[in-house]
Amino acid sequence: MDRNLGLEFVRVTEAAALNSAKWVGKGDRHGADQAACDAMRRTLADIDISGLIVIGEGERDEAPMLFIGEKVGSGNGPKVEIAVDPLEGTNLCANGLPNAISVLAAALEGQGTLMHAPDCYMDKLVVPDEARGAIDIDAPPTVNLRVIAKCLGKRVEELTIGMLDRPRHEKLIAEVRRAGARIRLVTDGDVTLGVAAIDAATGIDALFGIGGAPEGVITAAAVRCFGGDMQARLVFRNDEERARAEKMVDGDLDRVFHTRDLAGGNVMFIATGITLGDMLKGVRFTSDGALTESVVMRSASGTVRRIETRHRFQDGPKY
Ligand code: FBP
Repeated sequence: MDRNLGLEFVRVTEAAALNSAKWVGKGDRHGADQAACDAMRRTLADIDISGLIVIGEGERDEAPMLFIGEKVGSGNGPKVEIAVDPLEGTNLCANGLPNAISVLAAALEGQGTLMHAPDCYMDKLVVPDEARGAIDIDAPPTVNLRVIAKCLGKRVEELTIGMLDRPRHEKLIAEVRRAGARIRLVTDGDVTLGVAAIDAATGIDALFGIGGAPEGVITAAAVRCFGGDMQARLVFRNDEERARAEKMVDGDLDRVFHTRDLAGGNVMFIATGITLGDMLKGVRFTSDGALTESVVMRSASGTVRRIETRHRFQDGPKY
């Protein structure tokens, strides 16, 4: 039987979302992250897999749980590589802003792979399926904008480009504006922005700019499942990051990574909303529990499932 593990992993992102939702707006990003990690790790233990964290909360010496190399799951079942971001958008959650999510990407050993991305930045270009094969991260933004507009049958002026609002994007923002495209700047959360870019319904036509490399791999898993295209390149802040990455990318630090280099073969992408967002509704507490909304995507079948779950806390809060 072809088992869709995504339908089991959704309990993991739901648990993380429910636990961190209690911290929304409390101004404590670490408390919120800790709550998400605790619940995610606890729930992963119930799943019959031999899981290995390949992207997580950090290296073993800096993260007490969900560290890179940690074995998760019951230990009985298929070998699975897992990339987690228990709380993507720690500041968004702490400040009660839209688009905080809990997210997980996975690949069954022998069927798929996730890049073991170093903890550095990544320059990302994410576009919908219509523009697949047409983009070039080495070309000037103006050229990519023209290409994307043509593929989408729009004028450049009608495009909306998602980007993190960061001083490092000053030149990029100026160039996109000069070309006439519209921009959606967000304070945090470029996984949500990347997923929004591949889904025409959100009104965002592309993601440009630099965010976290681990988040880039998770975004690539969604691109593989949903359809779309992505190109990326690692960006380093210092020699230490460069040296650490060198071993992981066989010395080619300038390499352009395509979607399948980041998430190859059969992969899954699972996310649950924490605060109300472009992709998902957030956690809503009710008189007897809470409601969550999640998305489960699988590249093998191309299915994209939206799951609205009612959680009943019969003996008090469960998570
Ligand atoms: P956290 O959830 O770890 O706070 O990450 C949020 C985020 O905005 C990511 O979506 C993004 O990839 C990264 O931070 C950008 O990093 P920086 O804040 O250093 O620009």
